Parts: sequence; structure tokens; C-alpha cells
Amino acid sequence: MSKNTLTITDNRTGKSYEIPIQDGTIRALDLRQIKASDDDFGLMTYDPALTNTASCKSRITFIDGDKGILNYRGYPIEQLAEQSNYLETAYLILHGELPSKAEYDSWTYNITHHTIVHENVKELMGAFRYDAHPMGMLISTVAALSTFYPSAKDVHDPKARRDQIFRLIAKLPTLAAFAHRHSVGMPYAYPDNDLSYCGNFLNMMFKMTETKYKVDPVLEKALEVLFILHADHEQNCSTSAMRGVGSSEVDPYSAAAAAIAALYGPLHGGANEMVLRMLEEIGSKDKIPAFIKEVKTSGGEVRLMGFGHRVYKNYDPRAKIIKKMADQVFQVTKRNPLLDIALELERIALEDEYFVKRRLYPNVDFYSGLIYQATGFPVDMFPVLFAIPRVSGWLAQWDEMMQDNEQKIARPRQVYTGSARRDYVPVPARG
Ligand code: CMC
Repeated sequence: MSKNTLTITDNRTGKSYEIPIQDGTIRALDLRQIKASDDDFGLMTYDPALTNTASCKSRITFIDGDKGILNYRGYPIEQLAEQSNYLETAYLILHGELPSKAEYDSWTYNITHHTIVHENVKELMGAFRYDAHPMGMLISTVAALSTFYPSAKDVHDPKARRDQIFRLIAKLPTLAAFAHRHSVGMPYAYPDNDLSYCGNFLNMMFKMTETKYKVDPVLEKALEVLFILHADHEQNCSTSAMRGVGSSEVDPYSAAAAAIAALYGPLHGGANEMVLRMLEEIGSKDKIPAFIKEVKTSGGEVRLMGFGHRVYKNYDPRAKIIKKMADQVFQVTKRNPLLDIALELERIALEDEYFVKRRLYPNVDFYSGLIYQATGFPVDMFPVLFAIPRVSGWLAQWDEMMQDNEQKIARPRQVYTGSARRDYVPVPARG
């Protein structure tokens, strides 16, 4: 009868070990007993960038990268994008179940009534240069929020955790919109509690002198869908940062600031901004073959931004939904002329052996920027538009970690490859 174990023979010693297999994994610590001699530390795994290591058990998001499947708490992303809204999806991600009507109303009320930020935060933002990147401003102001809410340190108190969850989800759009208005020299627009989460964000971004901002329902719906698609994506770089930093039991504002910093990078959430800059640089369809050639011959230095994914080796299901939605948005806004370049770039890449062999497909960032741009968001706000909804995923993962008895402070091992012990040499004797 087959057993759920792995037998390892250490050829250095001839000894055999039987190690349990659970959930398709072995416990790395079970390898520690495998020693070449009594004073040997024991065997470790070496896994740079954690490409084949599960660092937690999670019940939040399921991805099948080969099949292009993404589910939140078991619900397919396609169904949520079509039928839910961002706040309901955030509730689902955080609580594990869709809310009843009463739960939804209370959740929405609580988020809506935490959107205001302390006036000092405004002054803090005013200190940035006029051309400061909004992601830099967001990282700093989210970290600064920890100084306004000392109870955030009570990370073992479920009620305190809940309060910070309300505040972070509620205040991110406010901080994001303030960062934008600072850069264009416009007075900050305060939250309007009559509007939906996305409608209010559009209000805080784009309100001019009118007394009441009128939200375009098509753009509001598009933003809801984009926010749903970005809400969580299991153990990616920024979520790992949230969990890793949060594992030291620091407050969630400081951990979220670290997660936003991780998201800012061009290989992660900064890719949507880079896609737009790339499309602008290509400029016209006839320049695409030369650009593709450059990507293929650069030895990995020039990348086709918005393509490829660590987990998806198939079309990113989020990209499929966004591509379909672009047509609806462009009926309201002007059609983004960069769309033609993007479509042709995708067509050529998907037929090219380099991309086919490496299973590189469009990811969520390939088409999202085209919609953001047509909606009126400046390009450097794109990663911010990723951060706003992702905060619910980060918080859900953090909350899950805080209740997981198996988790400890994150502290990976290393393989030391430096010099052996040697003695200090004073400067005159160094030669
Ligand atoms: N353009 C050209 N070549 C690529 C690309 C790309 N976008 N992505 C991967 N490759 C090549 C890479 O050079 C490597 O080739 P080789 O085997 O010859 O060395 C091979 O494909 C495997 O790539 P990798 O870098 O080992 O893959 P990874 O899993 O470490 O990286 C990635 C994943 C997303 C960082 C990478 O695909 C990439 O840099 N893409 C462009 C940036 C981007 O769009 N990022 C957004 C990701 S989705 C949103 C999010 O969750 O952040």
C-alpha cells in the first residue's frame, strides 16, 4: 500500500530517513535531522526568491497558474468581477464569507466613516516636493498613520486589529487622492459619504469647483471591477513583505508601508506604469518588431512589461477581464490610441517562439493602465491604483497570520559564502 512519506537516502552516510508528506509538501525542519556527522548543523533547503517554498497555510486566495484560475475564498474572480463590488469583495476576503445585508451595511458604514484623515496628515503631505511620486508619498503617510493610532500596537487584540482594518481600507483612497492633488497643486477634496467607495475616490481625485461631484456610473463600475481584480493574489512580493514585516508584531500601518514599498517596484505593481511608458516609447505599430527584437536579444535586461508571471503560465484571468472591459470604458472616454499598439504587441508576442517557449502571457498590468489613463489618472498614479484595493488582501493575510499558531517571526537561513575567519589588519599594514 502506498504511503504518504518520502524516503531519503543520504549517500554521505548511507543512512535513510522517512519524512511525512502533507498537502504536497515536506517540512523543511524535518530535513534538519539529516547530518553528515554529529556536529553537522543538518540539511537545509536552498531556495532563492522562494520559488518552491510554501511559507504559510492560507485559506484566502487560490490560484492555478497552469489553468489560469483565480478564486477568492472559493469564488471565481469572473463571478465576483461581474456581480460583486469592491467593498463586498474586501469583506469576503477578510471574513471568509459573503456578508448578509446587515453585515454589508455595517461594514460599508464603518469604512465610509473612517475616510477622513487627521489635519496633520495633510500638513505632512504638503511638505513633499511638487513632483514627488505618489507612491513615495503613500509609503510615508501610511507609515505615519501608526503615530496617530497607538492602539495599533495591540496586534494580539482582535478588536484593535479590526479598527486598523477599517481605517486602512477607508483612508488609502483619501491619501492617494491627496497625493495626486498635491502634485497638481489643487486643494484637497474631502470625502463625500453619500458616494460609494469608488465613486468617492473619483470625487476626491477629480472634483473641481462644483458643489457636488457627479460620478460617471461606467467609470465607477470599471474602477469597482479593477479594484476587485487587484484585491488579493496570495503570496506575492508585497504580501510576503506584509507578512514578513508583520511577523515582528509591528503595527499594521508600518507593515502596510513596507508592503506598498514592495509593490512600488517595476517587477510588481509598478509594472502598470512601466507598460504605459513602454507603449508611449514604442509610439507606433511599425516600431513593434524592432522593440520585440530588442527584448529578445537583451539577455533579460529589456522586458516586455505587463507580460510574464511567476505563477501564471497561461493567460492571467484578470487581464482577460480587463481587456474585455476596456471597450465599455472607451465608449465613455476617448479611445486610448495606445490600445492599438498594445493589441498588436500582444498579437506578435503570443506568436513569437521566445514568449511561447517561456509561457509568457499578458498579466493584470498589461491593459489596466490604458483604462486608468483614459479615465484621467496620470501615469504615476497607476501603482497607487494597485495599492488601494490590495490593502484588503494584505490585511486579510496579516490577520490570518496573527491567528496562525504555527507562524513565528520570519527569519530565513542563508548559505554563507564569504571569507573564513581572519584577523584585523591596521591601515599602514594593508599594502
Ligand atoms: N519580457 C521578456 N522576457 C521575460 C519577461 C518579460 N516580461 N518575463 C520573463 N521573461 C523571461 C526571462 O528573461 C527568463 O528568460 P530565460 O529563461 O531565458 O532566462 C524567463 O522568461 C523566465 O523569467 P523569470 O524572470 O525567471 O520569471 P520570474 O517568475 O522570476 O518573473 C516576472 C516573473 C513577473 C517578474 C517577470 O515575468 C517580469 O519581469 N515581467 C515584467 C514585469 C511585469 O509585468 N510585472 C507584473 C507582474 S503581474 C502583477 C503583480 O502581481 O505584480
